[in-house]
Amino acid sequence: MSWDQVWIDINIATMSPSISTPYGAITDGAIAVKDGKIAWIGARTELPEFDVLATPIYKGKGGWVTPGLIDAHTHLVFAGNRANEFELRLQGASYEEIARSGGGIISTVKACREASEAELFELGRQRLNALAKEGVTTVEIKSGYGLDIETELKILRVARELGKHHHVDVKTTFLGAHAIPPEFSGDSDAYVDLVINEMLPKVVAENLADAVDVFCENIAFNLAQTERVLQAAKKAGLTIKLHAEQLSNMGGSAMAAKLGAKSVDHIEYLDEADVKALSESGTCATLLPGAFYFLRETQHPPIDLLRQYQVPMVVASDYNPGSSPLCSSLLMLNMACTLLRLTPEEALAGMTRNAAKALDIEQQVGILAVGMHADFCLWNISTPAQLAYTYGVNACVDVVKNGQLVHQ
Ligand code: NIG
Ligand code: FE
Repeated sequence: MSWDQVWIDINIATMSPSISTPYGAITDGAIAVKDGKIAWIGARTELPEFDVLATPIYKGKGGWVTPGLIDAHTHLVFAGNRANEFELRLQGASYEEIARSGGGIISTVKACREASEAELFELGRQRLNALAKEGVTTVEIKSGYGLDIETELKILRVARELGKHHHVDVKTTFLGAHAIPPEFSGDSDAYVDLVINEMLPKVVAENLADAVDVFCENIAFNLAQTERVLQAAKKAGLTIKLHAEQLSNMGGSAMAAKLGAKSVDHIEYLDEADVKALSESGTCATLLPGAFYFLRETQHPPIDLLRQYQVPMVVASDYNPGSSPLCSSLLMLNMACTLLRLTPEEALAGMTRNAAKALDIEQQVGILAVGMHADFCLWNISTPAQLAYTYGVNACVDVVKNGQLVHQ
């Protein structure tokens, strides 16, 4: 056998559903990499003969290898911060009150409109580095803090540039319908027209987005407006997803599921009929424990129903300055378990296998199996549950992206 590298002295949480052990685990395993892909994976004792002198061999000191983590929902390109609103909330104001009085998303919009592309790039780069250090190898980044043509395109260009200059793969999402900008206050339909007729065609022409998202909520866009945007996105050939059922049940999830959305995100207020709709359409349920925590939500997403109907659950950071200023994917694994009651295995699947489904990249990443990208992390842990159990001492030892050992 001629391989580019071989990993031994490792345990492997493959997360593959075709291996029946918890985490799809292979203890005392080995991985062989060729041309950026996994060429062989299995028990060390079954590793075929190979040229040990000509092949770099990496020894994992008995640690665990997992698929590279995938953060499938972030808003990490933004300027400014909202610490002042954090203080206001601690004095009694609610997230909705702040949003309605021109703060919230709109205050970040002002900062983003003023920021240069270079400034946004540098801020994004630092945040991407923070995620990468924790083993994230793929991230989704949304626009939505521009709300005018120029700034929406600027944010998406920065997101695309970040992907070109970083080993972390970046998937971009156009979220022009995130909030109603002040210029359109009182005429949200006209803003939706702008999103559909002017922004979207430009986004498509420049190939700036892989997907389209909308914030369907009483403080944002109603069901009919949301459907118009998603239909237009589908027509343009983009995948669709939705911020839905976060503060109330607007029916967004069921509608998006019918349109074939890849994921619906937040979903605290999802009901059983909605869950059924998701299971019928194969739509993922993205849980955002950081926003749940930071906004001190009390309505829990319906985890038992999601399990019962076998809806793939995704866990993501939702990193943003308003509702989840927490730039850590590992922290989300912990919160998904402590706050939302996922098992550590479900949480890890939510940042690997299921996150890949939500981003439509499950043929390449998200599980460790022959033919998949060699995209994995080595952790200094003695059991995979430790990834969700503890937080603060970063156990990520090595990252391999497309067969390249990343030095960070
Ligand atoms: O995912 N829900 C809408 N959008 C963001 C919040 C954005 C903000 O407050 O700046 C979220 O939580
Ligand atoms: Fe979000």
